[in-house]
Amino acid sequence: VQRTLVLVKPDGVARGLTGEVLRRIEAKGYRLVALELRTAPAALLEEHYAEHAGKPFYAPLVEFMGSGPLVAAVVEGDRVIEGFRSLAGTTDPTTAVPGTIRGDLGRDWGLPVAQNIVHGSDSPESAAREIGLWFPGV
Ligand code: GTP
Ligand code: MG
Repeated sequence: VQRTLVLVKPDGVARGLTGEVLRRIEAKGYRLVALELRTAPAALLEEHYAEHAGKPFYAPLVEFMGSGPLVAAVVEGDRVIEGFRSLAGTTDPTTAVPGTIRGDLGRDWGLPVAQNIVHGSDSPESAAREIGLWFPGV
């Protein structure tokens, strides 16, 4: 089995969508192995999004992700990395396909960085790195 890091981003938590996101994960048959509500410090977020350092949306992204509490989870299941990215939908919430988390629940709010409710690791290497960052004991 595989593990992935899922974040319900501050917009998702503020809009009361944590339960809906976790419901979809569990309804799909994946298992929660760690779960925590926290406000992430900038250093952690900078490291988490290190691949985007230098891009124009990097600073607003780190600021947004630290703007309030988020929910971090480790989720387990066969091919869960790919499977959760599929549940989440594509990055742009306006055009994400209905049926997905972003497609059903997200839209553009005219802000400098897309607020798209969830994060999921994009590869086994990213998942291992991100789980190590957010849940060093798991
Ligand atoms: P995450 O799950 O958050 O990692 O999203 P993702 O994997 O679908 O997208 P990616 O890692 O490429 O980008 C991380 C985040 O940066 C996205 O969720 C968006 O909020 C933001 N982002 C990515 N690309 C752009 C862009 O071209 N413009 C703007 N404004 N924001 C972007
Ligand atoms: Mg990403």
